[in-house]
Amino acid sequence: MLVQKIETQGAENMHDQQHNIDPSILNNVHVLQTENVKPSAETERAFRDALGCFGTGVTLITARTDQGPIGMTVNSFASVSLDPALVLWSIAKKSGRYDAFRNASDYAIHILAKNQLDLAMAFAKNGNSFNDQEWDMNSGKVPLAKRALARFECESEAVHDGGDHSILIGRVKRFSQRAGQPLIFNAGKFGTFSDDEI
Ligand SMILES: Cc1cc2nc3c(=O)[nH]c(=O)nc-3n(C[C@H](O)[C@H](O)[C@H](O)COP(=O)(O)O)c2cc1C
Repeated sequence: MLVQKIETQGAENMHDQQHNIDPSILNNVHVLQTENVKPSAETERAFRDALGCFGTGVTLITARTDQGPIGMTVNSFASVSLDPALVLWSIAKKSGRYDAFRNASDYAIHILAKNQLDLAMAFAKNGNSFNDQEWDMNSGKVPLAKRALARFECESEAVHDGGDHSILIGRVKRFSQRAGQPLIFNAGKFGTFSDDEI
């Protein structure tokens, strides 16, 4: 296994060099480049960093439970099928919100706008971060955020096993969209598009 350019405290003499090292070090440091690493418990941090290179939008997913509304910040959202209209997202089985979303018959997926970082941060920390002024309810009592860039009101179509996550497939019953710029998540950071041309 090859590791390059480790940037961290505690590994100063590895900067800008290539080293064959004990893979367990990868759980303590952030690396800029890795090669041919086998995914394992020891290399989970590096695996997450590599996955984090995939920039995504940010969604807020809401549902109704017997205890009240619940929400979660999620970036595993993806489109699946146009006909029928299907989308997917995945939820960690260890999440305290797992049972609520796993058992929800309906949920709403909101694609967040760049000025909705507050919602993303709040619902990453706490599933009950609802503020009355920002929410409507649909007929199924699923909370709908007022300012989202796009919204997909879904019925749960299927739940598939996905290792330490479950993959939830939603059938879109209604959707909405408004003009605006998305909130972006990449390499553990939130951001937006700049106006620069690529
Ligand atoms: C940008 C971002 C994306 C996230 N995406 C997911 C996701 O796709 N699936 C998931 O289970 N948790 C995801 N999370 C974590 C949850 O939002 C939340 O922080 C976590 O469920 C907290 O643990 P708890 O549910 O036990 O309270 C994400 C967090 C952030 C900040």
